[in-house]
Amino acid sequence: MQPNRIIYEGKAKKIYATGAENLVLMVFKDEATALDGAKKGIIENKGIMNNRISNLLYEVLEQNGIETHLVKPVDDRSVLVKKMDMVPLEVVVRNVVAGSLVKRLGKPEGTELKSTVVEYYYKDDALHDPMVNQCHIKAMGWAQPEHLKEMQARALAVNTILKELFAQINIILVDFKLEFGFYEGRIVLGDEISPDSCRLWDRKSLEKLDKDRFRRDMGQESEAYREVMVRLEKYMANRRGNRLKARVYITLKPGVLDPQGEAVKKSLHVLGYEEVEEVRMGKFIELGLQSRDKSAAKREVEELSHKLLANPVIEDYRVEVLEDETT
Ligand SMILES: Nc1ncnc2c1ncn2[C@@H]1O[C@H](COP(=O)(O)OP(=O)(O)OP(=O)(O)O)[C@@H](O)[C@H]1O
Ligand SMILES: [Mg+2]
Repeated sequence: MQPNRIIYEGKAKKIYATGAENLVLMVFKDEATALDGAKKGIIENKGIMNNRISNLLYEVLEQNGIETHLVKPVDDRSVLVKKMDMVPLEVVVRNVVAGSLVKRLGKPEGTELKSTVVEYYYKDDALHDPMVNQCHIKAMGWAQPEHLKEMQARALAVNTILKELFAQINIILVDFKLEFGFYEGRIVLGDEISPDSCRLWDRKSLEKLDKDRFRRDMGQESEAYREVMVRLEKYMANRRGNRLKARVYITLKPGVLDPQGEAVKKSLHVLGYEEVEEVRMGKFIELGLQSRDKSAAKREVEELSHKLLANPVIEDYRVEVLEDETT
């Protein structure tokens, strides 16, 4: 896709207009900034990795019923997204003490929080993105209280989904930042979720796999981002490969009376389809399965068909298992 007019160039991404009024192209850059813009640098291939990571995470969120701005990845650095009217807030979710919370609460980094913390920051570089509370947000009209409530609930749901997902790849989701916007009147999750906007620690070594490596001059930034991307991609590929589809065809046993079939047959005759001699009604059920083994899946679906889907006294069933091409 040929991007046209640039709408906005930020520190990490560029936003371009597209042929469609309601869509924009988001292009991820390798530039990194930290410490309120005082520290600048390049993390090699960061743009490519953040684009992939963010798109994968948004795909998982969508599968879990969270609407995101993701429309379609376009190339290695760019993604087509819904053009939103952004809420000027950063919604931060924290599971573990880290970053600015270390000083504010006087607790060492890594201290477990007894419950999830949600914080809001007003997006304004000149003011250094100050932390604000719900009263400030309401008083300044940055978001209506009902919209703020919705964003908070959405942020907590994202936390539950992503914490679980990262746990599967041996990563602790320490904290992260979200940005929301309005699209066709709905609150939708925008911007990105990546090692730029999350703190991610390896579960065993507690090694940092995020932008803190850059903030603290720890080195190996690009390698850390790559580690997150590779683990996520492997996990997703596995999950996709594991999907099977089962089709169960249930029909009445020969000789069993089928009043419904008889009624349909009569109607067909009334309509002039005299040549129809017999109508037997049946059921078709499709199941999605998280499994790789086709024959084990077939045995299992036959068993559950026998127990529940069909009535084995009067019905026959046939099970077919195939790869699920839709995921
Ligand atoms: N779907 C979207 N539609 C419109 N704007 C978006 C969308 N998603 C994110 N944005 C905005 O696009 C910009 C992305 O650029 P980038 O993240 O580089 O900005 P930034 O330098 O961090 O500056 P900012 O403080 O504005 O975030 C942000 O301003 C973000 O709020
Ligand atoms: Mg930004």
